[in-house]
Amino acid sequence: MKIMILGADGYLGWPTAVDLAFKKHKLMLVDSYIKRKIMTKMNREPLVKSPTLSTKVRKLNKAGCNVSMANIDCCDFTKLSNIFKKFQPDAVIHFAELPSAPYSMIGNKEAWSTLDNNLHTTLNLIWCVKNIKTDCHIIKLGTMGEYGTPNIDIEEGWLNIKHNNREQRFMYPRQASSLYHTSKIMDTDLLWFYTRMNKIKVTDLMQGPVYGIMNNDFIEANDFQISFAYDDMFGTVLNRFIVQAVAKTPLLVYGSGSQIRGYINIKDTLACISLALENPPASGDMHIHNQFTEQFSVNQLAKKVQKSLKKIDIDVSINKIKNPRIESEKHYYNAKNKNMMNYGLSPTFLNDDIIISIAQYVLKYKKYINKKILKPKTKWA
Ligand SMILES: NC(=O)c1ccc[n+]([C@@H]2O[C@H](COP(=O)([O-])OP(=O)(O)OC[C@H]3O[C@@H](n4cnc5c(N)ncnc54)[C@H](O)[C@@H]3O)[C@@H](O)[C@H]2O)c1
Repeated sequence: MKIMILGADGYLGWPTAVDLAFKKHKLMLVDSYIKRKIMTKMNREPLVKSPTLSTKVRKLNKAGCNVSMANIDCCDFTKLSNIFKKFQPDAVIHFAELPSAPYSMIGNKEAWSTLDNNLHTTLNLIWCVKNIKTDCHIIKLGTMGEYGTPNIDIEEGWLNIKHNNREQRFMYPRQASSLYHTSKIMDTDLLWFYTRMNKIKVTDLMQGPVYGIMNNDFIEANDFQISFAYDDMFGTVLNRFIVQAVAKTPLLVYGSGSQIRGYINIKDTLACISLALENPPASGDMHIHNQFTEQFSVNQLAKKVQKSLKKIDIDVSINKIKNPRIESEKHYYNAKNKNMMNYGLSPTFLNDDIIISIAQYVLKYKKYINKKILKPKTKWA
């Protein structure tokens, strides 16, 4: 297939690019490096710095892959349309958003840059598809955070509602607890609107927080490490906990730690993206899949990390600190995740070996850990 990957330099975009390149798809990788620029501005860095896409793409092609790249801002409709028109993709995987809840809650400027960037990239992609190639499949990364923590089971995207003896299927209610997650709800609305109006094909992957690294010969041989963030602003919780443990600082649990979410290993993220590519919706249809494999409370995650890392002589304590976020701490949480299993996903469950293998990766780069960026700085209120 001819696949465009928007946001190909990021934590998920780069491993997706490597995975699909070696599956012999023809790829067009797009990124503006806005994430790198914002991280630098906020005095933060991923654990290991990786070269920019041009160097990595040259090596992929030397290894027999068929990959091109463009350093453009997807908010620029003319530039995105020109590349789209030339490449004529069968599918576009859309990662090109600003994905940080804390960053989006710093102030008015950061709220606007998150909202503006995420809606612009999504709307521009929709217009490319609708104007240039309506049969192109949009695969959009949404998040489980869009649903919030409702007091009923979370279905996969849709809910049948019976009211005064009549019934209709609606999009499942969404109520997020950060501006970033709210921008993702708005994306979803845009996609659903144009699916109805212009008969485009969309898959929305409602993904839970991702953890882990990609074990891959090409990445290791060339030292093209993935963008593994571990700081308070851009790192996801399990990756943060493992780095905190390796840095010999306590695991920082926000509030009571009873907040429950659905989590996924990065290996399964890649598998789900391939499954989404293989199972496109019909024109005028929108698939919504909940993309996570297991639910844990933050306390359960912290205890798992503590117990697993004892096996490699890392003794770490757990500190509960005042929750910087406004979120329910004690709540019902039961989300469905059958769609991907029905397509054939064989889930990777979190165990001691996986936690230890991520810690061993972090240990290799321990000298780069900056302890000043571990504690949360952004408060919601
Ligand atoms: N990582 C997770 O745990 C997680 C969980 C749920 C959903 N998601 C979603 O997955 C997607 C990717 O997440 P990630 O963790 O890889 O994020 P990331 O920040 O590491 O990657 C996003 C990439 O998109 C690029 N980008 C952003 N705006 C752009 C623009 N206007 N033009 C060109 N490039 C642009 C950034 O430079 C970055 O390289 C996001 O949409 C996020 O909401 C991620």
